[in-house]
Amino acid sequence: MLGLLALAAYITVGVIVPLITSRLSGDDGLKFRTKSGELSAFVLDSLRGLPETIQYGQGTVRLTEMNSRTDALSADEARMKRTAGVSLASANTVILAFDLAMLFAATLLYQAGTVGVDGVLIPTIALMSSFGPCIALANLGSTLQSTFAAGNRVLDILDETPVVDEIAGQETITFSGADAEDVTFSYGGETILDGISVDVPEHSVVGVVGRSGSGKSTLLKLFMRFWESKHGAVKLSGVDVGRINTANLRDMESFVTQDTHLFHDSIKNNLRIAKLDATDEEIIAACKKASVHDFIMTLSQGYDTPVGELGDTLSGGERQRLGLARAFLHGAPLMLLDEPTSNLDSLNEAAILRALGEEREDKTVILVSHRQSTMRIADKVYSVENGRMS
Ligand SMILES: Nc1ncnc2c1ncn2[C@@H]1O[C@H](COP(=O)(O)OP(=O)(O)OP(=O)(O)O)[C@@H](O)[C@H]1O
Ligand SMILES: [Mg+2]
Repeated sequence: MLGLLALAAYITVGVIVPLITSRLSGDDGLKFRTKSGELSAFVLDSLRGLPETIQYGQGTVRLTEMNSRTDALSADEARMKRTAGVSLASANTVILAFDLAMLFAATLLYQAGTVGVDGVLIPTIALMSSFGPCIALANLGSTLQSTFAAGNRVLDILDETPVVDEIAGQETITFSGADAEDVTFSYGGETILDGISVDVPEHSVVGVVGRSGSGKSTLLKLFMRFWESKHGAVKLSGVDVGRINTANLRDMESFVTQDTHLFHDSIKNNLRIAKLDATDEEIIAACKKASVHDFIMTLSQGYDTPVGELGDTLSGGERQRLGLARAFLHGAPLMLLDEPTSNLDSLNEAAILRALGEEREDKTVILVSHRQSTMRIADKVYSVENGRMS
């Protein structure tokens, strides 16, 4: 009879209570994991696309999104903690009730003379001490703590001081040419650029060539002020980039990086980051210039087609042309193009060079490329060798 009571206790604590509490919490745990997985993916996507985010002023948008997702996650977490607390408390209450019932039943049997003192003590103590695993549930709290710790690490990254500061409060300038004067730069150790000077008059196409690792992309990043030069000056319209309002600078420049990052979103939204209020017509016009419109129209959902994770559903050339379409849509007077044709066949290359030629009236271009055919449109070509111009 005591055995039956113990069995009832185990079934209640081990099966019924968990069933009820798990029904209460529903699929919270699953949702929480999915959401936190999505948040990680979003953070990674944002980090990988950092140049695109900075260039098109999407920082606040993505940060707000990140914050609201984190908040939602914290709320879920708090709710789960509460549910866990309730289930622990109810399990404990049920255990206590059964312990008392066992003591009571054993005492009754003792009074009836069926069992001795040991017959009371042994079953009661055995039952009391056998619920250890249930108490282990209390450890759930510490698991959640580690989740919090991980969240805090992300917040730490957000608190990092940037290598360059945002600039505001300066007079807004309009673009009238760019130049680098005797620029020396290193990322810390080795000198990458050593006394470089480049003159980029308005409405010209200036080419930059040099072997891999010579600092061509670095030079473009200095014009974007992703980094600041140690010596010398990088200027737009004769004003040092360090004295131009950051928003003003980003409006004057379109940077097509060597490796276009596409966010985990539709093609249209990926283009729209370059101009948030762009109409569909403007987006299509930009894609036609970048010779990618026809390709997009072959996709099942056209401009609404989602771009897969890391954009790996698209070829290198397609991504490159989407990057160019972004730049055309952004409409800035200075275009910084880092190997914009490296992945393109000669047909698409020709189409893009033609589009650039047509834009010449109101665009200025700094063009980095290994391809002779692409360099043909340059008015002047600089060569970077061992950090020096030749
Ligand atoms: N963020 C960074 N931190 C430290 N070193 C860097 C960083 N970015 C680039 N470098 C180094 O600076 C040098 C110049 O790099 P950069 O990307 O400007 O070369 P590149 O001329 O564009 O080469 P490629 O033709 O291969 O694109 C390389 O040696 C590279 O390893
Ligand atoms: Mg490069």
